[in-house]
Amino acid sequence: MDQNQLKKAVAEAAVAYLVEHVPVGAVIGVGTGSTANLFIDALGADPGRISGAVASSEASAKRLASFGIPLVDLNSVTELPVYVDGADEVTTDLAMIKGGGGALTREKIVAAVSRVFVCIADGSKLVDRLGRFPLPVEVIPMARAHVARQLRRLGGEPRLREGFTTDNGNIILDVHGLDIPDPAALESTVDGITGVVTVGLFARRPADVLLLGGAQGVEIRRRPAAVSVP
Ligand code: A5P
Repeated sequence: MDQNQLKKAVAEAAVAYLVEHVPVGAVIGVGTGSTANLFIDALGADPGRISGAVASSEASAKRLASFGIPLVDLNSVTELPVYVDGADEVTTDLAMIKGGGGALTREKIVAAVSRVFVCIADGSKLVDRLGRFPLPVEVIPMARAHVARQLRRLGGEPRLREGFTTDNGNIILDVHGLDIPDPAALESTVDGITGVVTVGLFARRPADVLLLGGAQGVEIRRRPAAVSVP
């Protein structure tokens, strides 16, 4: 199976997860990226499964709408039963690097309001240690040089994502060459730099369930601490 087929397999497994664990007609959170797109397509084939979705990007909102799936404003819900999204890297503890598609801030917000984060990824995304994938950081434009200096002090090499503006009107610095032994600590440190909107580390709120696509099929992994997660 090629990477796209693996992504499709995990996207379909995520719909099966919904069928098993989420009541029909719930409102769910939907992520961004090529794997999330395949999840939206799979949802579109089963229109009555959910009554609406909170999208983590304008692109996903558009794709959901193309299937007639109603879009829900996050401010109108107190909790989402589940958030389904991809990752650029994921560890066995289900900490992730996200933001390759630039939607990290809204992804983190939707994840914060979700009871269960289901990460869908092909096997190439599983790593022992985060950091080979350049770490995306969303930054307020006027703070670009200041934030870049601080990121260099942390040992990284920030590069401006050329020609890209986030849905929130900001820029992305992709940080190369970082060693990330403690993702949660680095998440707090980078989030603490003035001018940073969000860092693409999802370690303080990692995924709860990982649907990982490989040659043998889709493996389900659960974060050890997520005891109450079905
Ligand atoms: C979007 O901003 C990202 O966080 C995506 O979830 C991540 O880049 C995974 O994307 P793919 O599913 O396209 O690999």
